Amino acid sequence: MRKTLKTLQGMRDRNEKIAVLTCYDSSFASLLENNGIDVLLVGDSLGMVLQGRDSTLAVTLEAMAYHTACVASGAAQAFIMADMPFGTSQISPRETFVHAAQLMSVGAHMVKIEGGEAMAETISFLTARGIPVCAHIGLTPQSVHQMGGYRVQGRSEQGAKNLLREARAVEKAGAGMVLLEAVPAVLATEVTAQLQVPTIGIGAGVNCSGQVLVLHDMLDIYPGKKARFVKNYMQGATSIGEAIRNYVREVKSSNFPLKEHSF
Ligand code: KIV
Repeated sequence: MRKTLKTLQGMRDRNEKIAVLTCYDSSFASLLENNGIDVLLVGDSLGMVLQGRDSTLAVTLEAMAYHTACVASGAAQAFIMADMPFGTSQISPRETFVHAAQLMSVGAHMVKIEGGEAMAETISFLTARGIPVCAHIGLTPQSVHQMGGYRVQGRSEQGAKNLLREARAVEKAGAGMVLLEAVPAVLATEVTAQLQVPTIGIGAGVNCSGQVLVLHDMLDIYPGKKARFVKNYMQGATSIGEAIRNYVREVKSSNFPLKEHSF
């Protein structure tokens, strides 16, 4: 049976961890869901891991729609979340709706938008019109130049207060899920406790409602620099299927991430 946002909310309410991986094609979509992945994230990380660029900034809506359609054709049970690429959600809520609708029409069940309070009006506009939104806060890779690099966010007292405010604002605006990237584990724990919707962490400690990694990082395919929060699941595995099952088992039993993967 297809997993829905309601399924994921129920998992969060029962303290059952949500296992998420990025996915960009049909074969991996069916392999991942058959090995226990709940949510497939068609991430704009495809700009780096598929296209070989040094950031996500050049990814187009057309590329996102193409890969979302590929994933949708291979997934019968998983919930599919698709990234709004750089430049498609920043101008106005109306334009964002038109762009998001393109991803929903090819098979996404939710769109992910980078940004907090500044995106509240857009989140509210989309969710009021039938498009579920996941708000991505903390380290937002599309703002890499504004942030001055890929840095951990919310380390200072003021930074932590700001992040909590952003999280409350996006939930109030209607976000059905919040993705926390590269934030201290204690802060992610606090955000998760204060919100009613699921939080998905990447470099955000073990207490989020679920975890996500970039597929090419955890399978050790990506040749670029690895972040501290990445674990190589091919180590000790004899197949990709086994690596995925090990990831799912560790996420579900709170054995990933460990302190060494957290801030
Ligand atoms: O694009 C992506 O893969 C993401 C993850 C880093 C969460 O947004």
